Amino acid sequence: MCGIVGFTGTKPVKDFLLEGLHNLEYRGYDSAGIALLLDDNSLFIKKRSGAVDVLEDALHETDMPAQTGIGHTRWATHGAPSEINAHPHFNADKSLALVHNGIIENSYVLRESLEAEGYHFVSETDTEVIVHLLDKVYKEREDGDLLQALIDVSKVLEGSYAIVLLSSEHPGELFAVRNGSPLVLAKHDDGAYIASDVIALVSRVKHVITMDNNEFAHLKKDGSVHVYNDKKEELEHIIQELDVNHIPLDNGEYPDFMLKEMNEQPDVIERLGQDRFDAGSIRLDGLNLSDEEIKNTDKIFIVACGTSYHASLLAKNYIENLAGIPVEVAVASEFANQHVLVTDHTLCIIVTQSGETADTLAAARKIKDLGARVFAITNVLGSTAARESDGVIYTKAGPEVSVAATKTFVAQIVAVFFLALFFAEKNGRLSSEEVLSHLKDIQDLSVKLGEVLSKQEDYEKGSRFFAQAHSALFIGRSLNYPIASEGALKLKEISYLHAEAYPAGEIKHGPFALLEPGFPVVVVIPHDDTRAKTLSNIKEIRARGAVVLAVATQGDAEVEENADFVFWVPSVPPLLTPLISVIPLQILARKVALDRGQNVDRPRNLAKSVTVE
Ligand code: M6R
Repeated sequence: MCGIVGFTGTKPVKDFLLEGLHNLEYRGYDSAGIALLLDDNSLFIKKRSGAVDVLEDALHETDMPAQTGIGHTRWATHGAPSEINAHPHFNADKSLALVHNGIIENSYVLRESLEAEGYHFVSETDTEVIVHLLDKVYKEREDGDLLQALIDVSKVLEGSYAIVLLSSEHPGELFAVRNGSPLVLAKHDDGAYIASDVIALVSRVKHVITMDNNEFAHLKKDGSVHVYNDKKEELEHIIQELDVNHIPLDNGEYPDFMLKEMNEQPDVIERLGQDRFDAGSIRLDGLNLSDEEIKNTDKIFIVACGTSYHASLLAKNYIENLAGIPVEVAVASEFANQHVLVTDHTLCIIVTQSGETADTLAAARKIKDLGARVFAITNVLGSTAARESDGVIYTKAGPEVSVAATKTFVAQIVAVFFLALFFAEKNGRLSSEEVLSHLKDIQDLSVKLGEVLSKQEDYEKGSRFFAQAHSALFIGRSLNYPIASEGALKLKEISYLHAEAYPAGEIKHGPFALLEPGFPVVVVIPHDDTRAKTLSNIKEIRARGAVVLAVATQGDAEVEENADFVFWVPSVPPLLTPLISVIPLQILARKVALDRGQNVDRPRNLAKSVTVE
């Protein structure tokens, strides 16, 4: 996580740094800071605990003509979110300042040895180790070659990192290294730009260069950008045009991004359905798999985190059910320690909205090393997941700003459903007509999602009840167990209310003990072949005095009679119930969070993209 931005050129840099940091705040927002190179070649550093706005206020009165600078917005890993731990970090004589994204795994050992040599640390961060180590290596070299010093230091650092460095001895220059955490560069008439994400650069440049791992960059104020490998050999790089998807957005008429993005879901569904429907049959161009390879696939691993993991659980159900290929789903961070058996015919699919989740990328690299081919389902064009995979399916939901995933989850479900249809057609398990009929069902869903979203006032009573609770249970069966899990994740993520999800049939094996009068239970109960058993669960729960909020299919009188609150959804084909049941749970989470006075777009301790393991 953490956002990095930097510029060196012929224009004042301060406003660009602040604008870039605002656009990068989705990567972390617990503290922020900038370092500027002043006319007398000294470094000016200002840091603040809290959001970028706090830093901006602190800089309000400062008129800074500086034309070279770096900035950072932090998501704390080592050390509390505080001013002292905020970046940039600097060496004792303040001739070097740097910003860092990632984790230095051997920082403890390095810190001990630097302290033994007399280096004094002021923060608790792993980042400060880098700047003192650079100070030592650079001064020992005595040849003023800061790029080489950075190369030497990176050989000692373990972990993943992106670093951008400013030096008072190298006015008008910036130095950077990428190793595991993304960095993009841009050349321009005004000067040279660098950032952890193109979103910080879109207002300034039209083309970018994406750095690869173990590459070093040297930026100069004339706008030139040079990229080197660790032998200091200069590398050629493809200059890519920026995608409109990266344009930073505002929430327009909506009070928050979450509501805006939730309300975009009908359009997302319609667009995705239309794309494939117009094509006359299912087309997944980015997959790069021959019919033979699909027929021979013996197993698919799907790895993901958080909401993307819930979409992966649905993928397992769809692919096994429709295409008959065995699927194993793993939480990416657990996959690292899992014993994985692959053959020449095993595929791996990573599902990641951002395409930058470190756990997911590590899992993909592990299975790739074992010989499986890796495919990504991601929302972000040119993301690390897309670049490192053998094929990509883009979810095309448009940029998602709110930390809580909503429209991208729905787009992921549609993508994995398409994938299952695609495999099923290739395997001869579904005819083209059957595939087209499923695609038509997806298209029809758009209006139905719109109906649910237009009735948010119906949720007031139920949401207010939940807002008073201390804990809640979410249950669902089969395809709707991942939806119950997603509902619980959404609720705890933005309202800080403890919530746990269970398969509906499993609660009698333990969680039943939690039930007491007033205890809230959300039951996802569509009118499908799981309904009868789930209805029995509702009755068992009510018999213990617990309060049931059901997400049920319009017109289900028996559910209405047995539940305390009902959030109605229109009837949809059984395989597509997850796409409609999730909407009331998003609405519930948002309303509860607002009732509890929380910022729904920026929940505490979280970041939109989790780039540390
Ligand atoms: O970008 P990714 O899909 O890889 O992110 C995975 C999780 O961090 C993410 O889904 C997280 O759980 C969301 N904030 C949930 O709303």
